[in-house]
Amino acid sequence: MRRPARLFSIAMIAAGLGPPAAAQDAEAGAALYGDFCAVCHGMAGQGDGPMAGALTVAPPDLTMLAEDGEFPVLRVARQIDGRDPLVAHGGEMPLYGQWFEGDGADVAMTGPGGQPMMLSRPIADLIAYLMEIKS
Ligand code: HEC
Repeated sequence: MRRPARLFSIAMIAAGLGPPAAAQDAEAGAALYGDFCAVCHGMAGQGDGPMAGALTVAPPDLTMLAEDGEFPVLRVARQIDGRDPLVAHGGEMPLYGQWFEGDGADVAMTGPGGQPMMLSRPIADLIAYLMEIKS
């Protein structure tokens, strides 16, 4: 855990900020979600946004992401930043990789099997939010 802690303090120095409450911020994620995702996935994440009816592939219910017991952090991160090859092959969801690159100070989250993974801050915030709305 030494590396994330170091990155974290570098980020704080760079931003000139005091210590934030947590590495990722579900409230910031909620704001991003409202701006970029709710139009398709719906305000509550249930796949019923105003644009859903115009898509040939229905936006999935994001409150069900953890239905197999574990929240699929890696799959979700890839879907959002466009690295998932399925997305590259004509998925209807916009590719957000460039918009969500953040400030270069990545945030550590726990990935599959407890492995730490580094995510840009906007994507980590979004995932923190999605973990909260899971049903
Ligand atoms: C234009 C409509 C649209 C927007 C906007 C959109 N999505 Fe999607 N999303 C989809 C569709 C359609 C799918 C189904 C699979 C596909 O097309 O790739 C999907 C799939 C997903 C999945 C995969 C779910 C799974 O089971 O693996 C996640 C996670 C997701 N979206 C999150 C987001 C987030 C977070 C945002 C905002 C940053 C967002 N989406 C914005 C339409 C959208």
